[in-house]
Amino acid sequence: MPENEAGDALENLLHENRKFPPSEDFAANAIATAALYQEAAADRLGFWAKQSRELLSWGQDFEQTLDWSEAPFAKWFVGGKINAAYNALDRHVEAGNGDRVAIYWEGEPGDTREYTYAQLTEAVKKAANAFEALGVAKGDRVAIYLPMIPEAVISMLACARIGAIHSVVFGGFSADALRNRIDDAEAKLVITADGTYRRGAPSPLKPAVDAALEAPGHTVQHVVVVKRNGEPVAWAEGRDRWWTETVDAASAEHEAVLHDSEHPLFILYTSGTTGKPKGILHTTGGYLTQTAYSHKNVFDLRPESDVYWCAADIGWVTGHSYIAYSPLVNGASIVMYEGTPDTPHQGRWWEIIEKYKVTILYAAPTAIRTFMKWGREIPAKYDLSSLKLLGSVGEPINPEAWMWYREIIGGGKTPIVDTWWQTETGGMMISPLPGVTATKPGSAQVALPGIEVDVVDDLGQPVANGQGGYLVVKSPWPSMLRGIWGDPERYKETYWSRFDNMYFAGDGAKKDEDGDIWLLGRVDDVMNVSGHRLSTTEIESALVSHPSVAEAAVVGASDETTGQAVVAFVILRGSAAEDPDVEQTLRNHVGKEIGPIAKPKRILVVPELPKTRSGKIMRRLLKDIAEGREAGDATTLADAGIMQLISESLKK
Ligand code: WT7
Repeated sequence: MPENEAGDALENLLHENRKFPPSEDFAANAIATAALYQEAAADRLGFWAKQSRELLSWGQDFEQTLDWSEAPFAKWFVGGKINAAYNALDRHVEAGNGDRVAIYWEGEPGDTREYTYAQLTEAVKKAANAFEALGVAKGDRVAIYLPMIPEAVISMLACARIGAIHSVVFGGFSADALRNRIDDAEAKLVITADGTYRRGAPSPLKPAVDAALEAPGHTVQHVVVVKRNGEPVAWAEGRDRWWTETVDAASAEHEAVLHDSEHPLFILYTSGTTGKPKGILHTTGGYLTQTAYSHKNVFDLRPESDVYWCAADIGWVTGHSYIAYSPLVNGASIVMYEGTPDTPHQGRWWEIIEKYKVTILYAAPTAIRTFMKWGREIPAKYDLSSLKLLGSVGEPINPEAWMWYREIIGGGKTPIVDTWWQTETGGMMISPLPGVTATKPGSAQVALPGIEVDVVDDLGQPVANGQGGYLVVKSPWPSMLRGIWGDPERYKETYWSRFDNMYFAGDGAKKDEDGDIWLLGRVDDVMNVSGHRLSTTEIESALVSHPSVAEAAVVGASDETTGQAVVAFVILRGSAAEDPDVEQTLRNHVGKEIGPIAKPKRILVVPELPKTRSGKIMRRLLKDIAEGREAGDATTLADAGIMQLISESLKK
């Protein structure tokens, strides 16, 4: 078992043995029953083919469910032709549900907008026409750098409609990070906004786009700008266009052409173990199948009556799979909220749930832990009785947070589904089924029907119940990544070289006595801060790009609220050590290079870093220090005295 992350977590979790079977009522009426497991086990590919045909409208049926002949490059639903936007929009209107609300949008200042399926379809058709008029064709890349406003979903679906590949860049990323992503994908068009609102004040976005495009040599021809906060913006004549003048003015007639099942749908960048973010590539048919399937069965979705709220940002995969795509493909009414949970008061989320009578809430453990800190009396002021199911995603949920979520938010009655998956998996992989599984606080438990995972040891052998190891996926799944944009070798190397014929997820996990899976955090150099993936190497590169820094090592230290926090150890150059503001300067520098989420919580100035004889930094030892422990076994260090030196320097 990887010792670093998992040791303590494993110890604590071993004492967790509470179980919550579904209520009789829930079980009796649940959409997903135990039969799903049997069906999938009897004929896995047949199961997926059936799900796909039931959940989606194919313009042309597929001939082969899976082509794995060029493994690890998969093709699903081969020969099928489909349009993602048609599945998310037009078909619901054609089926007579055009008046159903697709999006209840709530702006941070309290302004609201509502789109029915008919209205959203029209908005997407206009955007599709407008993007095409700006020269975007099938296969072209479009960067979307938007806040949580309906135009984000509209832009994504408009791209999907015309077969353009969207690359959504989280609005919290910096100009430099945006430029890197624009360059890597060679984006032709950027969709952005003047800005948004953050904690009650206007917060700009367009200046970051301007800065990103300042240096020549990029591929961007146009920037479409949504007016959101009305703040003044700089304007590049010829390049920039207002959304109102291009999209709103476009024709509302647009026919969705069919695309191949394997046509790329989007690229989404995520952090890996090296400095350069990976452009994770997802395609159409398989992605839509698994996301729609999991959304329906895991959330027990009733599109005609549920109000579903996924409180993620569209810039992360959760926002792609469970805001923009699957809920709309399933014809649900969704809530979308622009702002922070404490604006204008700490009850904002619960106010939204009361107001829209939200039935399903999907949120991250870090948010739950923050609400716990704020106190149970805050949600107690609101009527949360509409909630029937709660979901968790993004990081392991500790049993205390799980219990609080169930008791305080779910009134002690709602099932909780702890869903494990990744940007790379596209959709949920491990989760209880709410009407079937007796849930255990802190465990994602079982692979979904149709998905095959295991926990294996260093040699790739399955571990026995009660043991820990590495989480792997044993067979291809419909919404799996199809590769890393422009880098097929890195795809094979990162995910398929650690074990033979198994996908290496990068997570440590253990099986309990029942064989249920408990996730224990990353085993590689990837950190998880508030459910956001950050690479230690990426932040180290940002730090050493500053003239004051000679060397840097970054670790993720456990943090009560954010799961992990970024702690950086730096060796300074020359006179930088005398600068009293150096820590703040470096934090801001990382913010500028990557984005505010990557700013180290602590920066510790040290004289040396612990290294092995081959020069590898032993982050494990630094993590001990960052978490306030005595540093562990240091016998493989090139210089055994270093840990002593570091500890002493930090005491000063
Ligand atoms: C990493 C993937 C899943 C979408 C949001 C994050 C961690 C995710 C869980 C969970 C324990 C989880 C893993 C994974 N993770 N969900 N339910 N329990 N850990 O996507 O940014 O690609 O991060 O998040 O470590 O590898 P991502």
